[in-house]
Amino acid sequence: MWENKFHISPKKGLLNDPNGLIFYKEEYHVFYQYNPTSCEHRNKHWAHLKSKNLVDWEELPIALSPTDWFDKDGCYSGSSIEKDGKLYLIYTGNVKNNGIRESYQCLAVSEDGINFKKLGPVIFDKDIPKNYTRHFRDPKISFDGKKYWIVLGAQRLDLTGTVIKYSSIDLINWNFEGEILKEDFGYMCECPDEISFDKDKALLFCPQGLEAKGILYNNLFQSGYIINGDEKNFCELDRGFEFYAPQTFKDKNGNNILFGWVGVAEELKDFPSVVEGWIHNLTIPRKLILKDNKIFQQPHENLKFLRKKSIILNNFFVKEKVNLKDCSISGKTYELIINFENLNKDFSIEIKSNRDNRTLLEYDYLNKIFTLNRENSGENLKGVRKCILTTLSKIHIFSDNSCVEIFLNDGEEVFTANIFSEGEEIILDNQNASISSIEFYEI
Ligand code: FRU
Repeated sequence: MWENKFHISPKKGLLNDPNGLIFYKEEYHVFYQYNPTSCEHRNKHWAHLKSKNLVDWEELPIALSPTDWFDKDGCYSGSSIEKDGKLYLIYTGNVKNNGIRESYQCLAVSEDGINFKKLGPVIFDKDIPKNYTRHFRDPKISFDGKKYWIVLGAQRLDLTGTVIKYSSIDLINWNFEGEILKEDFGYMCECPDEISFDKDKALLFCPQGLEAKGILYNNLFQSGYIINGDEKNFCELDRGFEFYAPQTFKDKNGNNILFGWVGVAEELKDFPSVVEGWIHNLTIPRKLILKDNKIFQQPHENLKFLRKKSIILNNFFVKEKVNLKDCSISGKTYELIINFENLNKDFSIEIKSNRDNRTLLEYDYLNKIFTLNRENSGENLKGVRKCILTTLSKIHIFSDNSCVEIFLNDGEEVFTANIFSEGEEIILDNQNASISSIEFYEI
């Protein structure tokens, strides 16, 4: 019942971080952290899918399994790169002997993009530089035309989090190149990713242990970025409840595309999909755009291929509450776009609504705050998340059976959340505000 229609999710078992994202030989490959045997965080494999268009996915055999001495307690997160026509994976082999952690950065290679041969560790646990603990993982690889680079999440001996770099000319021999984060970011940084936009650079990473500050950093762990090394201005990527460990790659047009994990490493025994034997999903692919030192995230244009029946309403003006069901708009899986014309008052919309449940999106015009409220949204998951938004010009929602992604103002802010509700109604309360258009697409 909660199985998602267009978000990548496992049929059985647990999904976490997206890994190894790449456009290779005219196809998109997505791997993810996968426990095939239960909904718990252990026994991590790399699941594998490919697609020609980023929306229709073909499942492939598991790419990596934790079967060797250097990865026996988990084939942890990593990335991929093409070299000499072959597809290389670089990932962290997690090993625990008597509770003591060891981390190995390992390679695997494939000639056909489907079957992978492990080549073993290229950075051994014993070679971790002496300033760091064994929390040393999640290599994200890139090539600058001369050298290969990886960024890695690391923990200093004083138990603060940072991101470090290595370089290599052959993928086999790696040289430690130092830290790229100077400040302390919590007690550990996971899943770093360094990307470029024309002249600018962004470092995406996931600090663990940041304290909540008002409406910021309210999830257990954070996921955000800095631009051009400006560590004072760390900005969260997503304002919702479940979002972590994103990874990017370039699509065939050279755009930076991101997939995130719709989850955070909170052990939720009562997560509603667990009774169906699976847990978690990835986000939809999002195109990243840098504007005024801020990353905007937009649904990848290929998501249009998912659109079925459409209903478009122009110049919508309603005095009181309107249930869009009266315009034949309702459902569980859809894309909904609401465009405003100079909105100068409060606005709210209920989605996944029925007699008992509603998920509320509210814009407080005076205080410039947008809120996602799932206090009464359905089974088990609760809470409120907010962000500052100086104007509201567009709400763009992707609703799936148990997941929503809400893009505001063409990706200026995004809220991602799991919602377990059978409600299908969409109710607007626009208090005389005029909406220039409503576009609804069944998916
Ligand atoms: C992030 C993370 C990574 C690790 C992986 C293990 O969610 O903790 O740091 O490689 O998950 O599944």
